[in-house]
Amino acid sequence: MIYITRRETFSAAHRLFRPELSDEENAKIFGKCSNPNWHGHNYTLEVTVAGEVDEHTGFVLDLKLLKEIIRENVIEHVDHKNLNTDTIFMKGLIPTSENICIAIWKQLEDKIPNGKLYSIKLYETENNYFEYRG
Ligand code: NI
Repeated sequence: MIYITRRETFSAAHRLFRPELSDEENAKIFGKCSNPNWHGHNYTLEVTVAGEVDEHTGFVLDLKLLKEIIRENVIEHVDHKNLNTDTIFMKGLIPTSENICIAIWKQLEDKIPNGKLYSIKLYETENNYFEYRG
């Protein structure tokens, strides 16, 4: 089995909050990420596909194709967007990195033509990253 990874970056705004709670209560749970007037992160996304090498091409999956699949199904929906209000696949979810990882997995899971989606890694800052393996 070979694991191939494509890295992409995007910038997005969000607010972590539960609408039924006051700003103070939200601040207690979510801290700075519950700022009522939004804020942004520069995210790094790593998508890993696992598979066997195709004898004809020598590839698991052409990374150019993987890049296009990620751009079309994820990056176009999140880059320079508000994850709470603009991103259809985040609708109804609190846009934590955990939930973003799971939603990106669902966006990509059935779109990989060769090999299988193995992991979604999302870096919210240099020091914090989140990983989902389905
Ligand atoms: Ni935040």
